[in-house]
Amino acid sequence: MPTSIKSVLQETRVFQPANAFVEQANISGMAAYQALCSEAAQNYEEYWARLAREHIVWHKPFNTVLDESRAPFYEWFADGELNVSYNCLDKHLATQPEKTALIFEADDSQVIKISYRELHARVCQFANALKSRNIQKGDRVVIYMPMSIEVVIAMQACARIGAIHSVVFGGFSSRSLNERIENAQACAVITADAQFRGGKMMPLKPAVDEALSMGGCDAVHSVIVYKRAGNDVQWNAKHDLWWHDLIDGLPCTCEPEWVGAEHPLFILYTSGSTGKPKGVQHSSGGYLLGTMVSMQWVFDYKPTDIFWCTADVGWVTGHSYVAYGPLAMGATQVIFEGVPTWPDAGRFWKMIQDHQVTTFYTAPTAIRSLIKLGGELPKQYNLSSLRLLGSVGEPINPDAWMWYYTVVGQSRCPIVDTWWQTETGCHMIAPLPGAMATKPGSCTLPLPGIMAAIVNEAGDEVHDQHGGFLVIKRSFPSQIRTIWGNDERYRKGYFPEEMKGAYLAGDSAHRDEDGYFWILGRIDDVLKVSGHRLGTMEIESALASNSLVAEAAVVGKPHEIKGEAIVVFVVLKGSRPKDAATAKQISEILREWVSKELGPIAKPDEIRFGDNLPKTRSGKIMRRLLRALAKGEEITQDISTLENPAILEQLKHVIQ
Ligand code: WT7
Repeated sequence: MPTSIKSVLQETRVFQPANAFVEQANISGMAAYQALCSEAAQNYEEYWARLAREHIVWHKPFNTVLDESRAPFYEWFADGELNVSYNCLDKHLATQPEKTALIFEADDSQVIKISYRELHARVCQFANALKSRNIQKGDRVVIYMPMSIEVVIAMQACARIGAIHSVVFGGFSSRSLNERIENAQACAVITADAQFRGGKMMPLKPAVDEALSMGGCDAVHSVIVYKRAGNDVQWNAKHDLWWHDLIDGLPCTCEPEWVGAEHPLFILYTSGSTGKPKGVQHSSGGYLLGTMVSMQWVFDYKPTDIFWCTADVGWVTGHSYVAYGPLAMGATQVIFEGVPTWPDAGRFWKMIQDHQVTTFYTAPTAIRSLIKLGGELPKQYNLSSLRLLGSVGEPINPDAWMWYYTVVGQSRCPIVDTWWQTETGCHMIAPLPGAMATKPGSCTLPLPGIMAAIVNEAGDEVHDQHGGFLVIKRSFPSQIRTIWGNDERYRKGYFPEEMKGAYLAGDSAHRDEDGYFWILGRIDDVLKVSGHRLGTMEIESALASNSLVAEAAVVGKPHEIKGEAIVVFVVLKGSRPKDAATAKQISEILREWVSKELGPIAKPDEIRFGDNLPKTRSGKIMRRLLRALAKGEEITQDISTLENPAILEQLKHVIQ
């Protein structure tokens, strides 16, 4: 169990929402929240059915709500038919065709706005382009693109024709891309020539070329390239196609493909504690419903809002709160190509001012780095348009919360600290800002109908403010359906027998005297670096594939801005470096190696060398000891089961 529980418990500040906010809120006051909770408790299925009927335009209405007969392979609204893109676009054409859907701000500050009418036309046209390549319902399409209007079009176009997209974050390496293309058996890749970030042009197409050359990608027959930068690219006439050539002359209407509610909308790869990344598979109907109700409840969405979620579409946040949720609600939203610190750390605040953003959703790691690089900068901008702030990705420390609240939100805007995961599809535990008071560092209470609880190792619920495993006791519409191609890994990982049918989230948490949830961290060996999930195993495998390395163990240690830093303990095939210069040189080689293998986000912060690693007599690496060493703590734990205690002394020191 993480030890941070102490400091968190000392947090006693409580912030009531202002009356003015409560009065206008979609869910106004605790009684309204509780009424929804009891509706869900009394008739769970009918509750979700009501919401699904109210929020989604069904092509064919559903009769069955929840099918648990093949649990944990749950099905929701399975005999209903819909199209997600229809619900995000066509639905708005009659009521608000000229409303701005996307306000795109490029890295260089150029702004392009596009209405729902235009977005619909462009999605239809690109959907026709996909069809012209014979891409069909159920086919997998990998998307490897920068933040752009085009990436939203690509995702929506896939949804329109029933193709299953798998977005790979543009910061991932060619190897990661290769693994994902192969695992999904994708038939097409949509990419760009390059992306711009922080004033620099960064090529994307070469990574696709490299990924395809690594093998396992024979199913790929089309690589569609959006020309963003105009840089030179290698061209493979066999499958490469320019986006603009492909759409040329195609009609701007395209009948949506009606799919069953359980039809997979997308696969999104995420890190687990062991082995290869897992392809989290989401549904169409249940997923869409989750994004919509959370927009309504947690973001208190109003048609007049200017919504801005800063997440990249490469992460689930950018799926649920960029590509789908806001569009399904008919919102106007900002999307941003660049980085928050360029040209300076006031970029976010300037954009909030320029675009009159009302709802701003970002990650604690971004908040911490902006505090450090320019804690006073928000005061130089007019942030009076803001009415609600959000946080996601990792626990937000109370100090960062207070800065966000007072300096950015000017003590006027509630903060919604939203706990959820790639696997849950939408917010699970988060304040409904017009209903409940917030406490810095707590994600507060579950959304109505989300049966979150804390249990012990035996799966029994714990009360009285004890910590334990966070679980969700009943299936909910937006939950993961399976791991692509690996039902067993899904069943074992998320529904282990001890949990008695509950979904095991992989986090530890505790509840305070008001029932508020406080997330403590992961229970598995998954790191959270700048809000991104990284599996220690993946980094270890990448290191082990370097010819210098015999063995490696990866742990996290607290980092002021990134949340966690990556510390690696390495045993070389040759002898351990004895002087600082050699250690530094090999460190650099290995850091670059990991960066190339997995992408810059996985680059280790620190490497230590040893003749061996601390192991039990059965040969298991004792990670808890390594974690303590990484933090520079004295080892007070029991080391009697350790095979080679002397090694600890060696690993204590960073050679420099
Ligand atoms: C893990 C999921 C949710 C979308 C982005 C990350 C941690 C996420 C919070 C929060 C404390 C949080 C958990 C969770 N996490 N949000 N508000 N407070 N921890 O999605 O990469 O699937 O990561 O992120 O550990 O399990 P993800």
